[in-house]
Amino acid sequence: MRKSLLLSGATALLLGVALLTSCEGPMGPAGPAGQDGVDGVDGADANETCKECHNPASVDLISAQFEFSKHGYGEAAFDEAGNTSCGPCHESEGFKDVVERDVPATFSLVSGSYVNNYACSASTAYGELTCNTCHSSIHTTYTSEDIPAFTTVDPVPMTMWGGSKTMDLTVDGNGSSNLCVKCHQPRPFTNSNTDKNVLDYDNLVANPADTFYAATNPSGPNVLKPGYRTHTHYGTVGAIFAGEGGIEFEGTLSYSNSQHTSQTSCSDCHMAPMNGKAGGHTFTAKGNFNGCVDCHPNLTSDKSDPSHWSDKRTEIQTLLNDLAATLNIGGIDILNRNPDAESNLWVSLTTNKYDGYLNIYDPVNNPDGVDNNPTGIFKNPSPGSTWSQAQKDFNTGLPAIVLTNAQMGAIINFQMCLREYSLGIHNFNYTKALLTNSLAALD
Ligand code: HEC
Ligand code: HEC
Ligand code: HEC
Ligand code: HEC
Ligand code: HEC
Ligand code: HEC
Repeated sequence: MRKSLLLSGATALLLGVALLTSCEGPMGPAGPAGQDGVDGVDGADANETCKECHNPASVDLISAQFEFSKHGYGEAAFDEAGNTSCGPCHESEGFKDVVERDVPATFSLVSGSYVNNYACSASTAYGELTCNTCHSSIHTTYTSEDIPAFTTVDPVPMTMWGGSKTMDLTVDGNGSSNLCVKCHQPRPFTNSNTDKNVLDYDNLVANPADTFYAATNPSGPNVLKPGYRTHTHYGTVGAIFAGEGGIEFEGTLSYSNSQHTSQTSCSDCHMAPMNGKAGGHTFTAKGNFNGCVDCHPNLTSDKSDPSHWSDKRTEIQTLLNDLAATLNIGGIDILNRNPDAESNLWVSLTTNKYDGYLNIYDPVNNPDGVDNNPTGIFKNPSPGSTWSQAQKDFNTGLPAIVLTNAQMGAIINFQMCLREYSLGIHNFNYTKALLTNSLAALD
């Protein structure tokens, strides 16, 4: 059928040429018929190759799973559209943009203060995360050969560290874990003084007893004023899983990785065969042990194999609770409690329901907290310009916050180890060392 279409097209073309040339005088006699051309190579049959993907067991099914993925239903992509610093991870086009231009994770000095280079262009800061965010070649050849290509599988320089540390997870041979941690990585702490550079984390380790922040700082000028939202952001899994980028205080434990780092990929546990609304392209591991049984035959539920689940998780949970309790000033928590399961994604992980934010007054970013602790107990060192006079006056009457380098590093480690979600399943050894040595540093 296609051949006859082509023929009729060629016939029409010839007719057209004949018409156009018809005013040039009488035509000569027709020449002898030319030789037959060589048959063209058959084109791919579109309908047939479409079915390689568009069938009930592949794209159709995966699209149904994807509806349960926060990549799809999460609201941040819509909310943060237009923001070039959020775009590299929250906007589909922004992600593809930083990959394509190979945007570095460095900070550069621009007229006296530092700028974080890890941003997408304003023209790409949009787009919900979808199939082609990760699969770069869909509808290129229109065959199933378009599926294996990922947008990026390169080693990932860490934005938290201004690119001075790099994660490289190659276990499954296709680099898909690097694809995940390009986005699932912590964000940098930046100095709030005029310098705006990435925080010198090594100084926290080297001089733990120095004052990090105080209204009048005996250790030198403050570089960062703590606030309610002084945090690693949400994607700490990458750093924990890779065993890189925590604040590595010296202590009784050395920093090593569990075997998961060198023997598993994110997809082993997160894209295992479905169980309920977890697995496959939902990307969630919550309540799905189908990925564990390949390596831990007894681990079929949260009760079946305590040495590969509850024993380890309880150990990490206890350390998180202890560290949170130790992070106090005169008995007042430095860390924020938030029992609201909607806004606190880690609500069930610690006894006091910490969310990783700080217990600092902030009527704008933390307006309606709960737990008799509506807006933070400590005085905010940077009152907002939009605050009412009453809010500013209230803030002035609150107790001042004073932090040592050890406390600041321990806060960062608490955030990293809480927000990796799994209570040590990702990388038990590294998580345990960060928390244990943080406790020692606070002693
Ligand atoms: C490599 C696998 C693959 C092949 C082969 C493939 N598609 Fe698709 N197609 C996809 C994916 C993935 C989507 C997006 C599905 C979603 O968003 O849920 C899609 C979406 C579509 C859509 C919906 C509109 C859109 O662009 O999002 C149409 C129409 C479509 N494909 C047509 C075709 C046709 C026609 C062919 C064959 C000529 C074909 N596809 C071959 C993977 C494939
Ligand atoms: C383009 C960046 C990007 C890539 C690549 C990416 N993610 Fe995500 N992921 C996100 C963002 C952003 C969210 C949160 C979306 C929201 O809440 O709006 C998220 C959410 C998730 C969640 C849900 C977390 C929760 O709070 O319930 C899981 C699980 C997840 N991703 C796993 C993965 C895995 C596994 C991979 C690799 C196969 C991956 N992601 C690749 C950006 C990415
Ligand atoms: C380096 C990548 C990265 C950057 C840059 C980034 N985020 Fe995220 N963000 C993530 C990931 C990954 C998650 C989901 C992590 C999870 O749930 O495990 C997330 C989660 C969130 C959530 C929580 C959504 C929920 O499910 O509750 C909000 C809100 C958010 N980000 C806002 C922002 C804003 C605003 C910016 C820019 C100022 C930003 N992010 C920049 C990676 C990033
Ligand atoms: C966050 C990144 C990401 C997104 C978004 C994503 N995929 Fe995938 N996809 C992967 C990874 C990683 C694999 C390889 C899984 C493995 O190795 O076990 C994969 C594998 C596949 C495969 C081949 C293996 C299989 O399970 O059949 C198909 C087909 C596929 N994806 C289709 C889709 C479709 C359709 C969408 C959108 C509805 C989508 N993907 C969205 C990361 C992603
Ligand atoms: C050895 C198995 C395993 C591997 C490998 C693994 N995870 Fe997880 N992950 C888990 C478990 C278990 C949880 C906690 C699930 C729960 O809350 O019950 C989790 C939780 C998460 C969550 C939040 C909760 C959710 O929706 O699942 C994100 C996001 C996440 N992991 C991302 C990743 C990324 C990115 C990688 C690769 C760098 C990775 N994980 C590798 C087992 C794993
Ligand atoms: C590809 C193989 C593989 C997969 C998949 C895997 N693990 Fe493991 N895991 C290991 C190896 C190897 C060890 C070290 C030996 C041992 O303790 O069994 C280990 C150890 C552990 C430990 C002990 C603490 C540690 O890290 O040393 C826990 C807990 C654990 N795994 C939980 C899980 C859970 C939960 C899942 C699924 C969500 C899972 N594993 C999936 C290979 C795997």
